[in-house]
Amino acid sequence: MNTLDFLKNKISTIQGQDIDRALSFIEARWIRGKEFLGSPTGILCGAMTWVSHHELVLGVCQAGGFGILASGSMAPKELALHIEHLISARCGPFGVNLIVFHPNFQDLIDVCGQYKVSHIFLGGGLPSNAMFKSLNSYNIKPVAFAPSAALAQRLIRSGAQALVIEGNEAGGHVGPVTTQVLAQEILPVLGKEVPVFVAGGIGNGRGILSYLLMGASGCQLGSRFVCTHESQAHDAFKEAFIRAQARDAVLSYGIDEGLPVIPVRALANKATKQFVSLQRSVLADIEKGTLSLEAGKMKVEHFWSGALYRAVVEGDVEHGSVMAGQSVGMIKSRESCEEVIQTLLKEMVEGVTDLQLGTPENFIKEKVAFL
Ligand SMILES: Cc1cc2nc3c(=O)[nH]c(=O)nc-3n(C[C@H](O)[C@H](O)[C@H](O)COP(=O)(O)O)c2cc1C
Repeated sequence: MNTLDFLKNKISTIQGQDIDRALSFIEARWIRGKEFLGSPTGILCGAMTWVSHHELVLGVCQAGGFGILASGSMAPKELALHIEHLISARCGPFGVNLIVFHPNFQDLIDVCGQYKVSHIFLGGGLPSNAMFKSLNSYNIKPVAFAPSAALAQRLIRSGAQALVIEGNEAGGHVGPVTTQVLAQEILPVLGKEVPVFVAGGIGNGRGILSYLLMGASGCQLGSRFVCTHESQAHDAFKEAFIRAQARDAVLSYGIDEGLPVIPVRALANKATKQFVSLQRSVLADIEKGTLSLEAGKMKVEHFWSGALYRAVVEGDVEHGSVMAGQSVGMIKSRESCEEVIQTLLKEMVEGVTDLQLGTPENFIKEKVAFL
């Protein structure tokens, strides 16, 4: 079955619209991303620590998206087990997210190389040239996160074959710039050079369509997949997501320049307040000389990983960190990955037809421009 038929089957519930034309329009926009990923759509499910295990990755891939395993909390042996599950389930192409400051970073790359993982998404900081070299030696496609246009150029020169631009609306650790601004800055400059995937605050197919129209090769969504049946998040974590509005997903900032921290977006609760008192006590210890700056930064990172474990795995959504993007307000119920992807595609097709982008004249122009 070709991918257009595949997509058409997914949205056969739409009646009375010219689905073929709309899908061809979408297809022409994300073809580069799809080919790069080896996936039937340009919809990625971003890695989420303790949420994106093999079950979610498989669910996303079987539904036509591109799933990414989160290895942030994993030892090499554990990562190998998740990959083995995916291979034995004949998952098809999927990605692995590696955090560049992970203490076993090279061992994790070696595991991915041994199992011939096709794509690695390098998060948590700027990857070094040596890291890109190591991925090249295994023939793994490196994808990097670009927080600005200047860094995006540098990452491509260093060896990134595709980029994810993740804006401030996203869940988890975030940069200072919004998704819209990053997209306007980066897509016109680099969208033709390498596939660029947009992430942060996207929960609806019309949002995906808008970034495709700006030159993206696809979009990465995280929060939207947290409440799927395949997601490994605790029931209480999923319920907190369903109750939340966009404004509940707040940023926790650093309180003093003496202790630079990466802001984290999560649902407001006792953990977001505790983060402020933790910073005060770390700063006091640094001033007293009983703690180095590096050790202080590590303490802050451990706070977040411990708090995320408490919420995602143990279900303590009061004291743990319920990391969530502003897109959380668009999640209304628990669904399967299949239902989420079908809904997103349906919304994209409706967006194309509403804008009359798929009218015969525009369709022909589009095809000609594409050729
Ligand atoms: C609970 C949670 C955990 C996350 N963990 C990671 C992670 O381990 N590595 C990573 O690169 N991004 C992580 N992210 C970011 C997602 O991969 C994705 O880029 C982000 O959720 C997109 O924004 P959205 O939530 O608005 O869709 C996490 C996000 C959430 C909500």
